[in-house]
Amino acid sequence: MIIAVDGPAASGKGTIARALAAHYHLPHLDTGLLYRAVGVATARAGLNPDDEAQAARCTEITPGLLDDPELRSESAGSLASRVSRHPAVRAALFAYQQDFAHQSGGAVLDGRDIGTVIAPEADAKLFITASAEVRAKRRHLEDSHADYAAILADIQARDARDAGRSAAPLRQAEDADLLDTSDLTIAAAVQRAIALVEARIRR
Ligand code: CDP
Repeated sequence: MIIAVDGPAASGKGTIARALAAHYHLPHLDTGLLYRAVGVATARAGLNPDDEAQAARCTEITPGLLDDPELRSESAGSLASRVSRHPAVRAALFAYQQDFAHQSGGAVLDGRDIGTVIAPEADAKLFITASAEVRAKRRHLEDSHADYAAILADIQARDARDAGRSAAPLRQAEDADLLDTSDLTIAAAVQRAIALVEARIRR
């Protein structure tokens, strides 16, 4: 069984994807980490993340690379969003994600284009969302030293970049179930996600 979980930053998609993977005993891939790895590698090599050819030179995913704690930083998130606009970068990461999705037994993948581009044939697709203000508050709780207004502005800028780009823009697949987590606790959101997947696989 392949489960695709897409949505904007801090919507809860990562938490929900991990919980679904545990519930169904499936391996999980956070595809955002791939773009974060490319963004960080590009910056470390002194190359320009906004230049397609330069970023595309840094797309090799070596073992252990995705465990680098640096990938979790806000700056890695911004770099990811810049390199992820480039079709050559997306194309270079395509096979890795498809292979992960099609391993025997299935998988859960979360990202921006899993249900639309990477695994349109997924058995269940969830599109997780929440208001920009709620998402900024969640990020602020994780890092109270950061400025709330700056986080909100960053989330809005990232949303605009992710939804407005021409290569695999963030959008809900036609056959995806929408789950708005703005007013839900984590436990309630996970419960609702499992119920949506169950309803899909029964159909
Ligand atoms: O946790 P958060 O949503 O902030 O970040 P992420 O999921 O790690 O994604 C970081 C950036 O990578 C996003 O802003 C997207 O631009 C990009 N991304 C993408 O284009 N396609 C994916 N499948 C996953 C991430």
